[in-house]
Amino acid sequence: MMKLRTLLIGLATAAFSALTLAQTPIVIKFSHVVAADTPKGKASEFFARRAAELTKGRAKVEVYANSALYKDKEEVEALQLGAVQMLAPSLSKFGPLGVKEFEVFDFPYIFDDYTDLHKITQGPIGASLLLKLEPKGIKGLAFWDNGFKSFSANTPIRTPADLKGKKMRIQSSKVLEEEFRTLGALPQVMAFSEVYQALQTGVVDGTDNPHSNLFTQKMHEVQKHMIITDHNYLGYAVIVNKKFWDGLPADVRGQLEQAMKEATVYANKIAQEENDSALEGVRKSGKTAIYVPTRDEKLAFKKAMIPVHAKMADRVGKDLLQAIYKETGFDPAKL
Ligand code: LMR
Repeated sequence: MMKLRTLLIGLATAAFSALTLAQTPIVIKFSHVVAADTPKGKASEFFARRAAELTKGRAKVEVYANSALYKDKEEVEALQLGAVQMLAPSLSKFGPLGVKEFEVFDFPYIFDDYTDLHKITQGPIGASLLLKLEPKGIKGLAFWDNGFKSFSANTPIRTPADLKGKKMRIQSSKVLEEEFRTLGALPQVMAFSEVYQALQTGVVDGTDNPHSNLFTQKMHEVQKHMIITDHNYLGYAVIVNKKFWDGLPADVRGQLEQAMKEATVYANKIAQEENDSALEGVRKSGKTAIYVPTRDEKLAFKKAMIPVHAKMADRVGKDLLQAIYKETGFDPAKL
């Protein structure tokens, strides 16, 4: 009798443990540095929702916005160590990791618009760039758009000369550094989460970002002027810890891949709208004067910045640069 009771208790405990294990979701921490109401913030929430639906709760994506877990420099390291499973760093963040080819996205005016950009990010060149992350223990899943950058400062910017001697915040990218030096500005590398305060206290004079980043960080409250130059593209690669990803049950991984596919369509659909409405928000705030340059004024910025292409070609690889030119039809000699 006693033996049967022990056996039954044992069986019940085993069944309960198996059930609990089956119900314990696989947690995916998704960390990022921007506000929740940005293209990246919204797309990561979309992904979390679809991941829960498609895996029927077997995977749980926890999104941490606004550098709540990690700042720029730390987040990729945390992913490599497995402390966080998923990120969407800006493409500039992979240069410092040693994958310098990604800094080609920092070349000024290399993409005229999103159509040009997608020829790279949604095509074979983009896919081959993502593969370059694998030796670093990183798997690249997708490219998500943000948008094109504008300069801001406390003094009006009409010509490239207006940036001379200005301390400008940049991301850690050798190409961006060269770009600002070419303009005669003084580039200062700084984490995204520190930019607002640096602008407010005058540690830097200005910055550049897509409108959605400027507006959601309230940078327009501490900058008096901006000019719509669209001089650089800023977007993201969604990445995961490769070991973690490869170790997922195949069916769950497939469902997450599907969720990522849908989130990518969504991200790239809303990016332009989000940036347009952010610019409208800046306009309505009345705090920052927005200057739209004439065609000739914009051309002057292009001409001033284009020497960066020749100067930095070796850093990203001449072949890669030529392959992008060929794909988009961009010719720096024809400005
Ligand atoms: C920046 O540092 O300016 C951007 O990388 C922030 C972001 O992730 O959009």
